[in-house]
Amino acid sequence: MPEYTLAQLEEAAGTWWRRLAAGSVVWLSGELGAGKTALVQALARAAGAEPARSPSFALVHEYPSPEGPLIHVDCYRLRRPDEALDLDLAALADRARLLLIEWPERAGALAPAPDLHLRLAHVERPDRRAVESVP
Ligand SMILES: Nc1ncnc2c1ncn2[C@@H]1O[C@H](COP(=O)(O)OP(=O)(O)OP(=O)(O)O)[C@@H](O)[C@H]1O
Ligand SMILES: [Mg+2]
Repeated sequence: MPEYTLAQLEEAAGTWWRRLAAGSVVWLSGELGAGKTALVQALARAAGAEPARSPSFALVHEYPSPEGPLIHVDCYRLRRPDEALDLDLAALADRARLLLIEWPERAGALAPAPDLHLRLAHVERPDRRAVESVP
């Protein structure tokens, strides 16, 4: 499985960003601290997006970019999948240039199908993370 430092992740994010067509949905899976949010932020920079100013407790973070909004939804705090109904993920997918769903498993069947599903993991070296594309 390929491993990335934060600097290498920055570069890979540029490649992923160019490959993701308008309206794409990306799922980000992996244990606590595996680097899912860091990857969202790298993608936002690759997109030339403004940093989000949303409060840290919010589940939805929007990053306006020249091509349209990157919308990051963090489903970690959903206790049951039906709590995702309030988020209206389908509507977010419709207006996002890119919809990034962190902890998609917690939204169950309400998470729109992914165009790219990345799974992140800790590795032996603390300064890098494994990132693999889930088929
Ligand atoms: N590729 C990487 N290499 C080295 N450090 C990283 C990498 N990705 C993330 N980190 C560091 O790991 C820590 C946790 O990252 P992050 O918050 O992105 O994890 P997360 O998967 O979103 O966790 P959570 O599930 O708790 O939201 C941060 O300090 C971040 O800087
Ligand atoms: Mg996170």
